[in-house]
Amino acid sequence: MRTQVAIVGAGPAGLTLAQLLHVEGIDSVVIENRSREYVEARIRAGVLEQGVVDLLTAAGVGERMAREGLVHEGIELQFAGERHRIDLKTLTSGKTITVYGQTEIVKDLINTRLASGRPLLFEVDDVHLDGIDSDRPCVRFSHQGTTHELDCDVIAGCDGFHGVCRPTIPARVLRTFTREYPFGWLGILANVAPSNDELIYASHDRGFALLSMRSPQISRLYVQCRPGEDIADWPDNRIWEELHTRLEIPGWTLAEGRVLEKGITPMRSFVAEPMRHGRLFLTGDAAHIVPPTGAKGLNLAVRDVQLLAEALTVWLRHGSETLLDAYSTSCLRRVWRAEHFSWWMTTMLHTLDDGDPFAVRLQESQLRYVVSSGPAATSLAENYVGFD
Ligand code: FAD
Ligand code: PHB
Repeated sequence: MRTQVAIVGAGPAGLTLAQLLHVEGIDSVVIENRSREYVEARIRAGVLEQGVVDLLTAAGVGERMAREGLVHEGIELQFAGERHRIDLKTLTSGKTITVYGQTEIVKDLINTRLASGRPLLFEVDDVHLDGIDSDRPCVRFSHQGTTHELDCDVIAGCDGFHGVCRPTIPARVLRTFTREYPFGWLGILANVAPSNDELIYASHDRGFALLSMRSPQISRLYVQCRPGEDIADWPDNRIWEELHTRLEIPGWTLAEGRVLEKGITPMRSFVAEPMRHGRLFLTGDAAHIVPPTGAKGLNLAVRDVQLLAEALTVWLRHGSETLLDAYSTSCLRRVWRAEHFSWWMTTMLHTLDDGDPFAVRLQESQLRYVVSSGPAATSLAENYVGFD
């Protein structure tokens, strides 16, 4: 088998890259080790930056998102029992965010890919990369009992944090930066209309909570928990109790519904530098992880492949490597901004250090500053909606 771009991983990064390349008439093969059903059902992010919505729309995968996505012009920050609105649209000269589940984006991208007739293989095994230092890289894998060798011009490592691409880069050239947080998020999907029109990020002395949504009928809710907790220790009534305690303010109650799904996510910051080695280009979670408090993970993944698709198009059409050479540096500038923002939101809103009173006072002071100072609110808003 031969292609121009071998794409490892059919998450948002790999599937978006495949579509952007398709629009430019560039061949790719996408290989994914999970099943289509698994990939389409994996519940993760929900908030899209305006620039990401615009990119997906321009790439021809925005039709259902335009119909079903919920456009939000603000978010709410809650602390000390008070709720404060951050008017994203006014503070950023008109930018908004769209609430549309990652599962739905992935379904739209898979349907578009299959309709294009270009290859997308699920349930591949034994994926190995060869020759990334040479100009003839190759991806070996097995599929339905047959071994394949996929020769290509470049490999896009879109295989997430636990993938095989990043470890292929020699340890001597890869530098990694990590921060583990002493808590996780317990998330539920519930069959109930969201109790608020906008997202609520709540700081509470029992821990952080977030009200989000997937549709006018489905709520998505999170509570801060200890890392490594067993979901079996969280029966539904315990989750609702914590959500009520952390989210409710006088005159506002949280509506309950049937829990459709629940899970615990660890919180981590991680960056691998550089994002390119030879003919291998890392994208999305394969290169960097952010804690979800800033809603940046999926957005960063799409922004990476936007740059990569542009750079590959110029190179494959005109032979110029300038953009490919700039890929890692250009991505990392945006990535580190999102790393800082996500870390900052996380440390401002979560219960830290076993409730150390000094840390609590600092957090409350910071939150008051953000909701009372125009420049501070603008700083949060412009990071939240994303930089173009
Ligand atoms: P992924 O979505 O991880 O896709 C990588 C793909 O590669 C997967 O389909 C995987 O199966 C496949 N793969 C792995 N290894 C191989 C291999 N060897 N061969 C072939 N394929 C392989 N972000 C937010 O903004 N908000 C959230 O609420 C949020 N919640 C999250 C919850 C969880 C549990 C996780 C893990 C992440 C969450 N994120 C969230 C982050 C966000 O979902 C990711 O940033 C986003 O999925 C990144 O997309 P990606 O395509 O880079 O990686
Ligand atoms: C979500 O809806 O899943 C969501 C929203 C905002 C975040 C993280 C997750 O910051």
